[in-house]
Amino acid sequence: MALVPFDDRDGWIWYDGKLTPWRDAKFHVLTHAIHYGSAVFEGERAYGGKVFKLREHSQRLIDSGRILGFEIPYTVDEIDAATNEVVAANGAPDCYVRPIAWRGSEMMGVSAQQSKIHLAIATWAWGNYFADKDKGIRLTWAKYSRPAPNTAPTKSKAAGLYMICTISKHEAEGAGYADALMLDWRGQVAEATGANVFLAIDGVLHTPKPDCFLDGITRRTVIGLAKNRQIQVVERAIWPDELARAQEVFLTGTAAEITPVSEIGEYKFTPGAITSALMDDFGRATRGEIDVPIA
Ligand SMILES: Cc1ncc(COP(=O)(O)O)c(C=O)c1O
Repeated sequence: MALVPFDDRDGWIWYDGKLTPWRDAKFHVLTHAIHYGSAVFEGERAYGGKVFKLREHSQRLIDSGRILGFEIPYTVDEIDAATNEVVAANGAPDCYVRPIAWRGSEMMGVSAQQSKIHLAIATWAWGNYFADKDKGIRLTWAKYSRPAPNTAPTKSKAAGLYMICTISKHEAEGAGYADALMLDWRGQVAEATGANVFLAIDGVLHTPKPDCFLDGITRRTVIGLAKNRQIQVVERAIWPDELARAQEVFLTGTAAEITPVSEIGEYKFTPGAITSALMDDFGRATRGEIDVPIA
């Protein structure tokens, strides 16, 4: 199937305060963000026209910008309203939503103190992030590790942090895998290139402490869902060889939702009862049938 490029589609993009025809949502090549990685973004999904955990995502976007030293010139309420406006304008009640904020083109150089901060929000139809999601995906080990918190702004969903993800994901895909599992700077299990990871060991869920990678909103939702089912969840440091003890493994993320994993390097898993129960619960939560407060 021919690729439909993202700059040549029909629809609307909310751009610096107003709905803009999709193809007109442009910026100049001398924009600080594309030279120096000064951009932060979100990934959200709308289900039946309502963005799941919208407020948490809008707040995380603002916080991500602050970590990079800039203030997005809109409040959380304004970002929520802009998101709802563009979701409605594009007319697809089930869609992926991509807000992005970036430093503009007023200054070129490492310093960008007087550059304006821009905000755009796009939406598009995006089905399963992983093909063959339900039977479990195969992962290999990533070439790069998640950096230490004193090496990079690891709490921010900053565009620059995705450079090592794209390299790792491309290498994994080139070798026939769906994704790569990244270790952290200590050699402990961290996350996949765009999703968090959970292990089920003898009926208990284990997931790495998010001390140097994104504490996913889906991750926090799944912890809440597991607790509702009286499934114990342990957030702790996990060494790679502990994968040998896991019966089930799954990834969580806005794009990935809950995706079972069948293989990571030399370790094999069988998607089972805990994964499928949480997938069902997550589906009900996104459709608004159950409420899951998140930490
Ligand atoms: C690197 C990375 N980790 C984790 C996640 C999961 O975060 P969330 O559940 O908030 O989408 C994402 C997706 O946004 C991601 O890109």
